[in-house]
Amino acid sequence: MTRMQETVHGWTNAAPPPKLGRSAPYVPSRKKRGRRSIKPVNRPVFAMTDRAAPRKAALRPLPSSQPPVALPAAEAFQPGQFPQVRMRRNRRTDWLRAMVAEHKLSVSDLIWPVFVLDGSKAREAVPSMPGVDRLSIPALIDAVGHAGELGIPAVALFPVVPPALKSAQAEEAWRPDNLANRAIRALKDAVPHVGVICDVALDPYTSHGHDGLLEDDEILNDATLDVLVRQAQAQAEAGVDIVAPSDMMDGRIGRIRQALDARGFQNTAILAYAAKYASAFYGPFRDAVGSKTNLGSGDKRTYQMDPANGDEALRECALDVAEGADMLMVKPGMPYLDLVWRVKQAFSMPTFVYQVSGEYSMLMAAIERGWLDRDRVLVESLMGFKRAGADAILTYTAVEVAKRLKKG
Ligand code: PBG
Repeated sequence: MTRMQETVHGWTNAAPPPKLGRSAPYVPSRKKRGRRSIKPVNRPVFAMTDRAAPRKAALRPLPSSQPPVALPAAEAFQPGQFPQVRMRRNRRTDWLRAMVAEHKLSVSDLIWPVFVLDGSKAREAVPSMPGVDRLSIPALIDAVGHAGELGIPAVALFPVVPPALKSAQAEEAWRPDNLANRAIRALKDAVPHVGVICDVALDPYTSHGHDGLLEDDEILNDATLDVLVRQAQAQAEAGVDIVAPSDMMDGRIGRIRQALDARGFQNTAILAYAAKYASAFYGPFRDAVGSKTNLGSGDKRTYQMDPANGDEALRECALDVAEGADMLMVKPGMPYLDLVWRVKQAFSMPTFVYQVSGEYSMLMAAIERGWLDRDRVLVESLMGFKRAGADAILTYTAVEVAKRLKKG
């Protein structure tokens, strides 16, 4: 890489003219020798003084008729400050930047959320999520096989439940042969080396689109727990590796853990959507699973968290840890990076983050218009999560980013 030539105030870092004959050995001036003997760690300051021996990268006077800019004497330079310290030195080349990089995004950090479709159609585009398809079970098996070959460790399943199967009590949620459970079985059969995570929440199954049971405008916490437990159990029986309660009812982690253990599913892990906010960023997801029309103008603010709160998220996490969660999740991602950091710092638990549908769609909309550079912005958006402390990231970009990471 060639070094850019800089010319600043009559000084240049261009290569000095070639020297003729042998160059004289360097002899520190009396003053510098003196400084060195007192403070050996203080390297002598040469730069930008008129006594400085011109070296390759050091600034030296331009052959110019302009008088040189007056510079402070060497004594005025503070050790540990510019110009001895130049942060840009470590950013000079690709290899140097790679060597000093603090965080690394790798394919094993990526969890791919997928929408599962019933029926004969192989796949169906989700209009508000360009590049995302709902997949039938055979298409899902192919796609997850491919994701596994790329090194993606796990997928998270979200069923698209036909309206006829939705009901007020969400009975379909725990039917052993429902779409989610069939997808789990098919995947564990065909691609057993890829982890399968499944949402535990009632919203795909309720006629009103809420995550819990509804009575007179109220979401019933304790009655919902019974249904969530059955749902988690049915998923465990189907062979799911990780259940992921995303409903935000109180006490669900403990109840699910207890029920799974009682039935011999000690090894089924729980990924708690611990700090899940009542967010407008879930809009495209609700299109994708078809729960938007069911929910109508309803919102989830009596159970999902208020975006104004941060400390409360730590209480939510503390409870989920105490109840037996194996991993914690913060959701959405980018507007809640402070929580990713705080949760990781406070609990030292595996901390996951969900780059949700709205974040994905925002990026894609800007990429489609040519406003953002696809090659760079997807990886950068995920690197932010790593820097904040996330151990794994749920992202609709998982497959694309995995391919990009493989290319290097
Ligand atoms: C369902 C659930 C939602 C998401 C994951 N699980 C939506 C919601 O809570 O309304 C959102 C994911 C996304 O937006 O990508 N409980």
